Amino acid sequence: RGWQNGPSVMRKGIRVRETHQVGPDTMRRVVRQSKFRHVFGQAVKNDQCYDDIRVSRVTWDSSFCAVNPRFVAIIIEASGGGAFLVLPLHKTGRIDKSYPTVCGHTGPVLDIDWCPHNDQVIASGSEDCTVMVWQIPENGLTLSLTEPVVILEGHSKRVGIVAWHPTARNVLLSAGCDNAIIIWNVGTGEALINLDDMHSDMIYNVSWNRNGSLICTASKDKKVRVIDPRKQEIVAEKEKAHEGARPMRAIFLADGNVFTTGFSRMSERQLALWNPKNMQEPIALHEMDTSNGVLLPFYDPDTSIIYLCGKGDSSIRYFEITDESPYVHYLNTFSSKEPQRGMGYMPKRGLDVNKCEIARFFKLHERKCEPIIMTVPRKSDLFQDDLYPDTAGPEASLEAEEWFEGKNADPILISLKHGYIPGKNRDLKVVKKNILDSKPTANKKCDLINVPKKTADTTSVQNEAKLDEILKEIKSIKDTICNQDERISKLEQQMAKIAA
Ligand SMILES: *[C@@H]1O[C@H](CO)[C@@H](O)[C@H](O)[C@H]1NC(C)=O
Ligand SMILES: *[C@@H]1O[C@H](CO)[C@@H](O)[C@H](O)[C@H]1NC(C)=O
Repeated sequence: RGWQNGPSVMRKGIRVRETHQVGPDTMRRVVRQSKFRHVFGQAVKNDQCYDDIRVSRVTWDSSFCAVNPRFVAIIIEASGGGAFLVLPLHKTGRIDKSYPTVCGHTGPVLDIDWCPHNDQVIASGSEDCTVMVWQIPENGLTLSLTEPVVILEGHSKRVGIVAWHPTARNVLLSAGCDNAIIIWNVGTGEALINLDDMHSDMIYNVSWNRNGSLICTASKDKKVRVIDPRKQEIVAEKEKAHEGARPMRAIFLADGNVFTTGFSRMSERQLALWNPKNMQEPIALHEMDTSNGVLLPFYDPDTSIIYLCGKGDSSIRYFEITDESPYVHYLNTFSSKEPQRGMGYMPKRGLDVNKCEIARFFKLHERKCEPIIMTVPRKSDLFQDDLYPDTAGPEASLEAEEWFEGKNADPILISLKHGYIPGKNRDLKVVKKNILDSKPTANKKCDLINVPKKTADTTSVQNEAKLDEILKEIKSIKDTICNQDERISKLEQQMAKIAA
């Protein structure tokens, strides 16, 4: 392997090794100019933290925290089921034990993701083998929420990953420990794509590309795959992207390259950059340190900065990705004392542009959530347009149906010049195509021990329940028709009077 002979230098605690192109150019290693060299990270004061939260202890390496410009959601410990908190951003301070939660799952919640097109809609995946989609009231929860807008059933093992499509409304991906990826039309509750024969082992991470035409995955079988989900085709793959046995991550960058984190055979943490058109050798492969925390990558496509948060580490390291060697440029490290159990990442439109804030993290401690603010110090009070290129806004570019039919579209960008003011969101409506048509779930075994396996008996009970539901619906339709009839005949009478 080329990089093993490459130069190796210590720079601010990071050993950087070149993969190839080892020549005078990379040896010189001049300090690159970058406006992000002096990004400054700072934790907020104690009274601006969210306190007294029992952060989940479930053994699963997701971020446990999801943030948008209105809410911070945190997966918590819950007895007899699974739950997460949804707090309005301003609801800092001590969170009372009796604070309402989202608690409809019958097993621990493993992953949550806010809909990028509706700040009131969040999806959750759980050990109970289901995905649920929730509508959060405008001002947050006043009562615990047990009823999701829709339950998506199709996985036969726990669901560890949920990820909304970046540009198509109501398209949601889930990945389970059954090694399957399902892509749902949330608006109809249907599983429209099922990729159940592509992964032979656990899926650690799934990421959509910029326009949502492709996904990339990192799996326990050490492969990184680039998949066209609608053609159900693997378009590129790399075996042993990282040789170590510990978990990898793979994310798409805006230019179509894939960034991965993983471990070497000697358990050193590595970062690598790949071009899906030629995955033989990485564009760059860097070794960082020896530590066992999985490196969770958070990526800002506007500035091309990747922030790496090691689970269990107490630091956030950040890098700028460019198209010149060494491609992955170390910028700086934010260090603190206590280890992070999880991390949330605010979308760009949620940042304070007046303070030149370029990233905001929500660090989970054992019992609290602490915002960390990254700024670029600038003297001027004016809007710094070089720091804020137009960014992905909340409007969807496509409807679910268009995407499933094969259309692609980039995100619709907005300017942050005057800050972002959250608008009104419409309610998520789920219109099931035909209740009788929906796939029988009775033959789907769930491996969770404390969930009773469904038997033939429960099937007939379920069918009866369904029939009941339909009869009720027919009755309500009849009632509506009667009412409409009355209204129409009244209107007709009035019309007749006017005409006469
Ligand atoms: C997978 O990667 C994406 C992009 O970084 C991240 O948002 C998501 O939380 C990751 N999922 C897991 C399970 O780590
Ligand atoms: C979407 O992204 C893919 C992969 O980067 C690219 O080939 C395709 O042209 C893009 N489509 C649109 C409509 O932007």
